[in-house]
Amino acid sequence: MEIRKVAVIGAGTMGSGIAYLCAWKGYSVSVREINDELLKKGMGRIREMIVGGVNRGKLSPKDAEQIMGRIKGTVDLNEAVEDADLVIEAVFEDINVKKEVFAQLDQSCPSRTILASNTSALSITEISTTTKRPDKVVGLHFFNPPYAMKLVEIVLGEKTSEETKKIAEEFVKSLGKEKVVVKDSPGFIVNRIVLPMLNEACYLVYEGKTTIEDVDKAAMLGMNFPMGPFRLADYVGLDIALAVLNRLYEALGEKFKPCPLLVEKVKAGYLGMKTRKGFYEY
Ligand SMILES: NC(=O)c1ccc[n+]([C@@H]2O[C@H](COP(=O)([O-])OP(=O)(O)OC[C@H]3O[C@@H](n4cnc5c(N)ncnc54)[C@H](O)[C@@H]3O)[C@@H](O)[C@H]2O)c1
Repeated sequence: MEIRKVAVIGAGTMGSGIAYLCAWKGYSVSVREINDELLKKGMGRIREMIVGGVNRGKLSPKDAEQIMGRIKGTVDLNEAVEDADLVIEAVFEDINVKKEVFAQLDQSCPSRTILASNTSALSITEISTTTKRPDKVVGLHFFNPPYAMKLVEIVLGEKTSEETKKIAEEFVKSLGKEKVVVKDSPGFIVNRIVLPMLNEACYLVYEGKTTIEDVDKAAMLGMNFPMGPFRLADYVGLDIALAVLNRLYEALGEKFKPCPLLVEKVKAGYLGMKTRKGFYEY
């Protein structure tokens, strides 16, 4: 099956980035948000990314206009998904919200439509249980910002079909991205590795052994990382990082128990760059 139209559900940090990426690569894209205000914000974010592309010399003003012309925003789910060959869900990292969204998508989408989730760590198999097409449900885990990050994790639920996997692989390739394939499991590949590292970094600081700055410096100069775990967490969003860690903790046990330093930051509303304060101030 050829993918022509992509519907993106949720126009937050990831949804807006994914919508921009798909439109940039030539797909016709619809974006759905829950109300007009959030839709306006999301479309504004997409516009900013496109303007950023022009300012960096990556896009011509004509490209920019064409990309924007391929993206349509709506608050109507049925309108967003009619004719969609692929839906990419990027709503809150909450299993109940995602299950409800997938149940609605299953009702509203044509029977051929592939339903993908951008979840960071939730179970694709569990999300697929609220649909009658678990064979067409797959994880497409993009990284932030989707237009710049080269990797997409393709996550296979227990019932994801070989055909769905192939279509997902082709789609990722068409976006100019590299793929890795992983069976459904908490945190998939990247988050299974990176979140325990952030948690250990938090414990080091929480126990008074060193500072946030020195941990990040050690990661960059001693491990050749482009940024340290605290800076990365600020970039990703501390709420997202905590949600993923909690998922690992529930599924895999005590060694993933979130450090109080991270828990307290999230409780205080210091979520990283998006709130201008996280482990650092912006
Ligand atoms: N932030 C990251 O770096 C990152 C990276 C990879 C994956 N993810 C995953 O992507 C997903 C979204 O994360 P985010 O950071 O973009 O969150 P976000 O809070 O910025 O955006 C979520 C958006 O979804 C909207 N939404 C909620 N329910 C909806 C519905 N029923 N229909 C349409 N829109 C709805 C919200 O209004 C909000 O704007 C999560 O599953 C997250 O784990 C995040």
